Amino acid sequence: MNLLETINLKKYFGETHAVDNVSLKIVEREFVSLVGPNGAGKTTLVNVVSALLRPDSGKVLFKGDDITHASVPERVEAGIARSFQIVNLFDDLTTFDNVTLAIFSRQGKTRNLAALAHLDHEVSAEADTVLGQFNLSGKRNERARDLAQGERKLLDVALAYALKPRLLFLDEPTSGVSTRDKGQIMDTIASVVRGEGITAVIIEHDMDVVFKYSDRIVVMHQGAILAQGTPDAIRNNEQVAMILLGSSGPDAFTRKD
Ligand SMILES: Nc1ncnc2c1ncn2[C@@H]1O[C@H](COP(=O)(O)OP(=O)(O)OP(=O)(O)O)[C@@H](O)[C@H]1O
Ligand SMILES: [Mg+2]
Repeated sequence: MNLLETINLKKYFGETHAVDNVSLKIVEREFVSLVGPNGAGKTTLVNVVSALLRPDSGKVLFKGDDITHASVPERVEAGIARSFQIVNLFDDLTTFDNVTLAIFSRQGKTRNLAALAHLDHEVSAEADTVLGQFNLSGKRNERARDLAQGERKLLDVALAYALKPRLLFLDEPTSGVSTRDKGQIMDTIASVVRGEGITAVIIEHDMDVVFKYSDRIVVMHQGAILAQGTPDAIRNNEQVAMILLGSSGPDAFTRKD
């Protein structure tokens, strides 16, 4: 069954056709990568699906229900969560408190209750479980601002995960980290997502990462879907290689180092 379906979705910014008639289906438990050059419309598409932006036209269906006009909290409640291209953390709070805030917000409680998390055994235990799943237990009591970039990216994903989504959008979870850290971050994310049966759509520029982890790849270009298919099909798509890498063929995807 389709977990998510967009039908002729459009979002223009003046003359810029950021999302231009996108009809996309995401099946339950898929791990999908959304790729495309800078400005292709990837983040805008996720913003429209997660209700940070209203579409100009088109529809968003989730589990068959029309959620085009649903608010952010209504979509979180339905089971859609996302992380951000630029991490969205409470820098002055500890790693643990960031996670407890996400759990409280899922429960509809207000932020100033965070201080009580230490007294709320269930929330505290859940937060520690989440930190363990994301390899952040050792950083439990450090302030978010003091974490390394890779840890900050993982914490941002952990906060979205703590909302208990069925569909998780991750906007460039490995951007700004070293190649070695990328592998660790992706192994961690893939293990949590696959282990919990969550459907994931990840925006990613590093094609080594994309080919390694995806069940399916969707390529955007100038607001539209240019191609979609298995990693093998996309690897052998010369048009995609040209657009992603400005190169002339599939060899463009071969590692040079
Ligand atoms: N709030 C906005 N106002 C005006 N134009 C915008 C806005 N947000 C995005 N755009 C434009 O819409 C287009 C798509 O942007 P978007 O951020 O969705 O691309 P992207 O594929 O996520 O790119 P990147 O890989 O660089 O993150 C770009 O031309 C961008 O400049
Ligand atoms: Mg983007």
